[in-house]
Amino acid sequence: MTLKKSLLVGCGSYLPQRIVTNDELAKKVDTSDEWISKRTGIRQRHVAAEGEMTSDLAVEAARRALDNAGMEIGDIDLIVVATTTPDDTFPSTATKVQAKLAMEHGAAFDIQAVCAGFIYALATADNFIRAGQARAALVIGAETFSRILDWEDRSTCVLFGDGAGAVVLRAARADENVDDFGVLSTHLHSDGRHRDILYVDGGPSSTKTVGHVRMAGQEVFRHAVSKLSGVIDEALDANGLTSSAIDWLIPHQANARIIKSMAQKMKLPDDKVVSTIDRHANTSAASVPLALSEAMADGRVKNGDLVLFEAIGGGLVWGAGLVRIGAP
Ligand code: COA
Repeated sequence: MTLKKSLLVGCGSYLPQRIVTNDELAKKVDTSDEWISKRTGIRQRHVAAEGEMTSDLAVEAARRALDNAGMEIGDIDLIVVATTTPDDTFPSTATKVQAKLAMEHGAAFDIQAVCAGFIYALATADNFIRAGQARAALVIGAETFSRILDWEDRSTCVLFGDGAGAVVLRAARADENVDDFGVLSTHLHSDGRHRDILYVDGGPSSTKTVGHVRMAGQEVFRHAVSKLSGVIDEALDANGLTSSAIDWLIPHQANARIIKSMAQKMKLPDDKVVSTIDRHANTSAASVPLALSEAMADGRVKNGDLVLFEAIGGGLVWGAGLVRIGAP
């Protein structure tokens, strides 16, 4: 079997209209703009409206990604939605997105890898395309994390936001000389022993409730720095590259201090790192494609740029992906 390379040919995103500032949160819980911005870099977050669901955000992001790719839904034969906040326990949010996009062919399913969800979804769709099982995929990270926050727990409720980002992957055509364009490699890891440092205290099979996010922040921070730095090295080594080859680091947006520490480790200047944490907060599976979309829309990330994605989330699960954006 000839493996087909997948190319990342479009990106789009969507944020709910409502913005909640740190000052607004400080009226509800014992916190302050100073504490939140100093410890995390977050100044505000978007929060979905009543009745606005993860699939609604995902569909908007998907439409924009298709537009950006110059493709139509008829060209797509796979939808992968990374989410931890699905509309319903079932059917999958991906099938709801499929229906809302009026797509009646192909396959659609969800992936649950919390904040590393987009990397897991990217790896999955890339492997489907490489194996010839799909021609073109919408890879979406979409979350309404506001629905699983304990709004009385200041140690978690200030950290997250809602949003969606999507990319279009398509198989390289036989007549295209793709050279080193496309998804170069993806690297996935998990270690379920760390469940208790970041989890939701509910679920259909355990408590029969939806539950709320619980986190031991400092421990998560420590793991994030070591595991992300390990998987970044792994991605670079696998491609025989050093960090000087990277045009853009597009990291998961959980904490500005974690992002800074990754950039320092890679000896990348700030202007090669895409950061949206100040305005979006942590949007879990949506954070990486949201950041990519913003940097593509404002012209920072261009066709041919080499980008490194990384993310870590509850599980623990973590991963990285190296992609040369666009097509030759
Ligand atoms: N406002 C004000 N004070 C707060 C607060 C808030 N929103 N949240 C916690 N505090 C208090 C704590 O109660 C504690 O008070 P104490 O010293 O009197 O006990 C103090 O601030 C320090 O708390 P601590 O948890 O040690 O702070 P920290 O410097 O570790 O920062 C995080 C907390 C959550 C910002 C940080 O640990 C972090 O970002 N961790 C990683 C989170 C992450 O990446 N999660 C997602 C992974 S996908």
